[in-house]
Formats: sequence, C-alpha cells, structure tokens
Amino acid sequence: MNGKTVIVTGAGGGLGKGIAQRLAQDGFSVAVTDVDSLAAESAAAGIRDSGYDASAYVLDVSDAASVTDVIATIAETEAPLYGLVNNAGIGRATPFLELQLKDWERVFAVNSTGAFLMSQAVLPHLLDRGEGVILNISSIAGKDGFPLWVHYSATKHAIIGLTRGLAREFGPQGIRVNALCPGAIKTAIWGSEAQATDDPDTVFDLLASRTALGRGQSVEDIASAASFLLGPESSNITGVALSVDSGLNFS
Ligand SMILES: NC(=O)c1ccc[n+]([C@@H]2O[C@H](COP(=O)([O-])OP(=O)(O)OC[C@H]3O[C@@H](n4cnc5c(N)ncnc54)[C@H](O)[C@@H]3O)[C@@H](O)[C@H]2O)c1
Repeated sequence: MNGKTVIVTGAGGGLGKGIAQRLAQDGFSVAVTDVDSLAAESAAAGIRDSGYDASAYVLDVSDAASVTDVIATIAETEAPLYGLVNNAGIGRATPFLELQLKDWERVFAVNSTGAFLMSQAVLPHLLDRGEGVILNISSIAGKDGFPLWVHYSATKHAIIGLTRGLAREFGPQGIRVNALCPGAIKTAIWGSEAQATDDPDTVFDLLASRTALGRGQSVEDIASAASFLLGPESSNITGVALSVDSGLNFS
C-alpha cells in the first residue's frame, strides 16, 4: 500500500467498481462508496479477496447530510485522505420536450451537485495533507451534444467547469483536478431502459463505428486512464478533460 486513500463514489458497479479495483491494485487504499449498500460491500469485499485494501461506505452523493457524515467517518478512519473520484452518475434517454423539471433537477443533483458536495467535503482533508487529486467522471456528452441526452449533457458540461475552476483555485496548494470523458461502455447506463430502445447494442455499435479506432470502450480502458490521472505519472497535469473514447471527439 502506498499510504494514500482515495474515495470513489458510485463504486458499487460499472465504471466506479472498475476504477476502485484498479486503484487498489496500484497500491491505493480505496473507500468504496455507493448509495447501494450491498453493491458497495460486495465491491469492497471483492477487492479485499484479491489481496488489496478497500472499505465500503454507504453514501448518497445527492444528500448533503450523508456526504458530510460519511466523509467525516472516512477521514477519521483513513486520514489523511489523498484523492476523490466523483464517479456516481445517472442518466436515461428522454426527449427534451418530455423532460420534467424533477428529472432535470434529479440528474443535476447526482451528477453535478453531488460532485460539488463531495469536493467541498473532501478538499479540506487534501489541503491538510498538502497534496491530492480530484478526478471528475464527465463524458463525451460533457464536450458535445446528443439528442435525448440534453439534461445529462448539461450536467457533464457542468462538471468540466467545476474541474477547471477547482484546478485554478487549489493548484497553488498542491491539489490537481482533472476530468475524464468516457465514450460508450456497456454498463447499466447502456441497458434498454436507460437508452429507451429495445436494442441498446445497435446504439453502442453505431457510436463505436464513428470513432477513429472503430471500437467502443471497456471498463478497463477507463480505469487505466483514471489510474494515470490519480498517479504520479500525471503530476504535471491539471485542469484537463481527457477523452477516452477511441477518438470519437477530438476536442
Ligand atoms: N457507461 C458509459 O457509457 C458512460 C459514458 C460516459 C460517462 N459515464 C459516466 O460514468 C459514471 C459511472 O457510470 P456507469 O456507466 O458505471 O453507470 P452504472 O449505472 O453502472 O453505475 C453507477 C453507480 O452509481 C451509483 N449511484 C447512483 N446514484 C447514486 C447516488 N445518488 N449516490 C451514490 N451513488 C450513486 C449506482 O448505485 C451505481 O453503482 C457516471 O458518472 C456516468 O455518467 C458512463
């Protein structure tokens, strides 16, 4: 272990679980957090069974009280904290004219406000340590627009703004803040319900066919980029929004 604890939100499944596993293999102690307690417990147990260090915590990133309480507990147990991966996110395809205010507010509450609450709760601990990294999981939808995903896209643009502002405000104190913009990965977000289609694989294949490399992305593709941005090899990189999308979008 490298003496550095990283908190990963939404780490009970999908990309967050893959990122948590990879960071643990890299030597980090990982605080596996998720709103789904069983998923968090199971992901952390899987990491420990592989011989690495992980603990599970139930944390709803959209609930300010939950964020405050759980970060205080993690900081007490695992201090001094080193990193935060704001990964928890939700989204489902919805025609813009059918979007309800409550849908808009909910997706912002988890994807954007959640990252704000987490960053504000964790940053004082990174400042105490005098170094640290925040990684925000945005999306290709944070750099471009996609029909049916206007609300989601707005939240993912927002966290790139959060990333850039925090990178400038806290860079002088040794804190790096970056964003990762994954392309398309077959997690729960790519299920029929979220994609509003009986054939989500066709949507996936269409996006993959438009990329420079001609393929979709795997959880491992995203986890290895996250590992780079958390680790010492990226010590001179802050304020970037790195696309991991097989070359779908060159901005
Ligand atoms: N899968 C993709 O193609 C893709 C592409 C680009 C970006 N992303 C982003 O990657 C991140 C992870 O997505 P995924 O594909 O792994 O999705 P997923 O649905 O497989 O996993 C999301 C996890 O977040 C948890 N979660 C949901 N609401 C939460 C809350 N309020 N508080 C804490 N945890 C919560 C869920 O329980 C789940 O474990 C999201 O931010 C998503 O927007 C995914």
